[in-house]
Amino acid sequence: MNYNNILTAFKDGITTITINRPTKLNALNKATIQELHQAFKHADTDKNTKVIIITGSGEKAFVAGADISEFANFNATNGKKLAKKGQELLFDFIENLSTPSIAAINGFALGGGLELAMACHFRVASDNAKMGLPEVSLGVIPGYGGTQRLPQLVGKGRAMELIMTAGMINADQAHNFGLVNHVTSPENLMPLCQNIANKISRNSSVAISAAIKAINASFKDGVNGFKIEIEEFGNCFDTEDFTEGTTAFLEKRKAHFPGN
Ligand code: COA
Repeated sequence: MNYNNILTAFKDGITTITINRPTKLNALNKATIQELHQAFKHADTDKNTKVIIITGSGEKAFVAGADISEFANFNATNGKKLAKKGQELLFDFIENLSTPSIAAINGFALGGGLELAMACHFRVASDNAKMGLPEVSLGVIPGYGGTQRLPQLVGKGRAMELIMTAGMINADQAHNFGLVNHVTSPENLMPLCQNIANKISRNSSVAISAAIKAINASFKDGVNGFKIEIEEFGNCFDTEDFTEGTTAFLEKRKAHFPGN
């Protein structure tokens, strides 16, 4: 597929999506959000893709936010549409995909950039990364899920402070807060993410997608996560992956999951 704002690559079961607007610090404009939607959708439906890694091009930024130039003259109606469409197309979309996604945060992850990273299933940061939700310094609030996902990840008080101060935290603070799972050098960022992705790829993709559904259910209003877990747990028993996983264990060999 041809994209203007992103690059995609596939190797060893991993699709890597790189946001490629380095002169704008990879800011998320409408076109980029649309392309990211397509690329994630494509990777999710590709049976060979076991894990998706998303990162930013250049050494400075993962994503420095939604593209401010696109909404500077919006009114309330436009603002609501922007947030709704973005959440549906990209942020909620990624979170609910059955393919695991990892955000490799290689620099600034601000506003929509941090929201994008938080929509991924987990995050790894390079030690030069800086994260924050600075929207209130622009007279607006996070609109791509930031007010919901940040407290889920770091707790209400920390989220309140970070959003109210419009401040930035460094990678170590983000690690202490549980916002990122690992911190490493810029050179080791992609190898570390690939290494984690390889470990994920060895397991049953069917069971992993069931686990994503069950874990996400815990954060959804009006949904009983324990019930979803029972349902998803039960469904696993009818899969070829379950037969292969248990048979391989009993035969003392490595499982080769068919992914069905
Ligand atoms: N939207 C649109 N353009 C952006 C952008 C954004 N969110 N973030 C950066 N850019 C653009 C800048 O306008 C600049 O473009 P130009 O060279 O055509 O003028 C280019 O990216 C480089 O950014 P610059 O500000 O010169 O880099 P810096 O190193 O001095 O500062 C930041 C880096 C991240 C601190 C600064 O760019 C910034 O504060 N960005 C906005 C962050 C933000 O508020 N995000 C939330 C948006 S809702």
